Amino acid sequence: MDAEREKRLVAEAAAELVEDGMAVGLGTGSTVAHLLPALAARRLDLRCVATSLATEHQAAELGLACEPFATLDRLDLAIDGADQVAPDGWIVKGGGGAHTREKVVAAAADRFVVVADSRKAVPALRPPVPLELLEFGLAATLRALGQVELRDAPRSPDGGVIANYLGPIGDPAGLAAWLAATPGVVEHGLFPPALVSDVLIARGDRVDRISLRR
Ligand code: A5P
Repeated sequence: MDAEREKRLVAEAAAELVEDGMAVGLGTGSTVAHLLPALAARRLDLRCVATSLATEHQAAELGLACEPFATLDRLDLAIDGADQVAPDGWIVKGGGGAHTREKVVAAAADRFVVVADSRKAVPALRPPVPLELLEFGLAATLRALGQVELRDAPRSPDGGVIANYLGPIGDPAGLAAWLAATPGVVEHGLFPPALVSDVLIARGDRVDRISLRR
């Protein structure tokens, strides 16, 4: 079973979770690229928020209009991909550098559903952990972080510099707290289980659903 087919299967399963009238957060990446046509085909009446310009553009082409995420104060559901999914529900995101907006959208949603192909399921999280950094003081932030490299990637839509933390992960909660407490780190790509409602993982022709809290 190829990964692209698994991405489509899991994205189509997630599209079925969306109900008429919902406010929906749309993630970023190649799995979400399969979600958008599946969702558009359902012709529901939705309010949508996109986590990246790429998603916003694809959604618009499919007839899913996205609105700025400034005045909506909550979402019913957000659906997004992942780079790694650990058995305890910790997730790494940000392979596309969109993790800051993705985390804001996930946190605003009553339910945050992660969609992944089978390659994303890992026994334990491993580096890299994507980072968004403030340009102001960048060299000092890099020095404080130690094992980090700048990515050859465009700035985030909010002007942030995209980098990868390459040090050991160990306890994800400890690393997440340290990264969040480091001045100059706008956001990191570690998403805690408390943020995640469900993980849908495609394994061949099957879609497994792991329900976490929320
Ligand atoms: C975007 O910054 C990421 O968080 C993506 O959601 C993640 O990298 C998964 O992307 P794919 O669906 O392309 O694997």
